[in-house]
Amino acid sequence: MRKIISLVLLLALAQQPSLACDGTARQSSGDAREWWQSAQFYQIYPRSFMDSNGDGIGDLAGITSRLNYLKDLNVTAVWLSPIYTSPMADFGYDIADFFDIQPEYGTLNDFDNLVQEANKLGLKVILDFVPNHSSDENEWFKKSVRRERGYEDYYVWHDGYKNESGARVPPSNWLQAFRGSAWEWNEERQQYYLHQFAVKQPDLNYRNPAVVAQMKRVLTYWLDRGVAGFRVDAVPWCFEVLPDETGRYPDEPLSGYTDDPDDSSYLLHIYTQDLPETVDMVYQWRKLLDDYQRIHGGDRRVLLTEAWSPLDYVMKFYGNRTTEGAQMPFNFQFIVGGNSDKNNTDLPASGFVKIISSWLDNMPSGHTANWVMGNHDQRRVGSRYGEGRIDLMNMLQMFLPGVSITYMGEEIGMTDLDISWEDSRDPAACNSNANIYEQFTRDPARTPFQWSNTANAGFSTNSTTWLPINPNYVTVNVQTEEAASKSHLTIYNQLVALRKTKTLQQGDASYTAIGDNVLAIKRFLKDEKTYLLLANVLDSAVTADVSDVLRVSGNFNTVITNMLSTRKEGDIVSVNNVPLGAYEAIIVESM
Ligand code: NOJ
Repeated sequence: MRKIISLVLLLALAQQPSLACDGTARQSSGDAREWWQSAQFYQIYPRSFMDSNGDGIGDLAGITSRLNYLKDLNVTAVWLSPIYTSPMADFGYDIADFFDIQPEYGTLNDFDNLVQEANKLGLKVILDFVPNHSSDENEWFKKSVRRERGYEDYYVWHDGYKNESGARVPPSNWLQAFRGSAWEWNEERQQYYLHQFAVKQPDLNYRNPAVVAQMKRVLTYWLDRGVAGFRVDAVPWCFEVLPDETGRYPDEPLSGYTDDPDDSSYLLHIYTQDLPETVDMVYQWRKLLDDYQRIHGGDRRVLLTEAWSPLDYVMKFYGNRTTEGAQMPFNFQFIVGGNSDKNNTDLPASGFVKIISSWLDNMPSGHTANWVMGNHDQRRVGSRYGEGRIDLMNMLQMFLPGVSITYMGEEIGMTDLDISWEDSRDPAACNSNANIYEQFTRDPARTPFQWSNTANAGFSTNSTTWLPINPNYVTVNVQTEEAASKSHLTIYNQLVALRKTKTLQQGDASYTAIGDNVLAIKRFLKDEKTYLLLANVLDSAVTADVSDVLRVSGNFNTVITNMLSTRKEGDIVSVNNVPLGAYEAIIVESM
């Protein structure tokens, strides 16, 4: 059904938020811009990117062999999920040696070579820094178990209690993220240790200055090897409350969100997450990076922080009046915003506007926004927002003001693969059972990257791969999409080119919803071309007049269209009469 937006309705809609993102724009213009402020970050899950030695597992030499692909995508910095020595209980987020490389992935030489080759191409390398926990196979933990001098309090230990029937019970009701108690009994030390993730991921004790110093050594070690910064893992968990004067940790209150007592959302994590001490820790890490730059020179080193916390807490990571924090506290609003079940396939235009303004309106002034659409812990964008919106989501990420952060494969429109219980590898799935694991599994978004339509999608020459390959690789792959006249990848590349314009680099933004269907965003800068992103986010056709709400007039020239659009580049669009088919998204420029 075609809807004509009437003048009356338009006037009413003009009252809707059509906000200029002042904070971003003010700081984003002028000469003082730093390299990361309009950068394209690209996340690689090393296990799944490229296998160079035919064992079915991605590795560092594989990444090095594909740096040209990243260069062609105009990536500014590559963020590698953990590559350190690890028993892989949580695929590298359980680190046995913070100063060495997982043998499956290569050696320190391979890493140095990767950084060197990347830098030659003008690409920066960012590492995942995992401060909250180590592996139980880390020497520090083994020493702590043995109460070796200096390591006694490296982790969070507690005797626990005897209940009325004399059975031993954990110190508190705290739950781990992967189901069940956050406390595990250690026979050798005869105490419980805290692990807010898997049993094999004991929490480091940030109340111990030796731990704080040790983790700073980790940062310096990798800075010395040439990294440009860090994505900081699981930040909100670093500090827990101190026990009271009797040595007791308080129980956390029930949330009322679920009846499942093993599910971490059963409790409100008021004593184990989002503590003020954690924010200060991030400021200390930022200072370390800035001091390093002052001494060693080079470009600014950056921090990207991972926190799925309330927005007011997340925004604290940016810093305060006197202290600098992380340049990029991850903006997860496109993941957590929208519908409560996280399935955003029906999200109307107003839902998109709400998501965008939730960040821009809450971001402290003088800071830079960033846009994260997905990562290795979430369902893929096409599976969350619907395949018809794959290009739209890439358009939003590249068109909105600030930093764009792409999870590998989103540029070619990879989608989730259902993984059987037998093939499941993720601890979040494996710690549950065959009946419910699909609610928790993160494997579907971690399948190997699809390079071509040859065996194993060109990822590996082995007969099997660590996770199965999505059978849609036959059509969804780099080689096929590069060769096509129009594909998710060619569209992504057009966005890359558009992003280089002064308007997108430095311009202001305003945005609004028109009815349920149309999301309209304007990027503009004095004396430069104005660009409009006009998207019909629903599956019914519509005609919109965007002239009043975006304060534009006349004709615009079509520059980018999504896969579902029948328009061509160069087609003229009159802004007071824009017909848009179901899920059609276009970018037009002023003439
Ligand atoms: C967040 C990481 O992204 C996730 O993959 C990991 O399981 C947890 N932190 C624990 O490190």
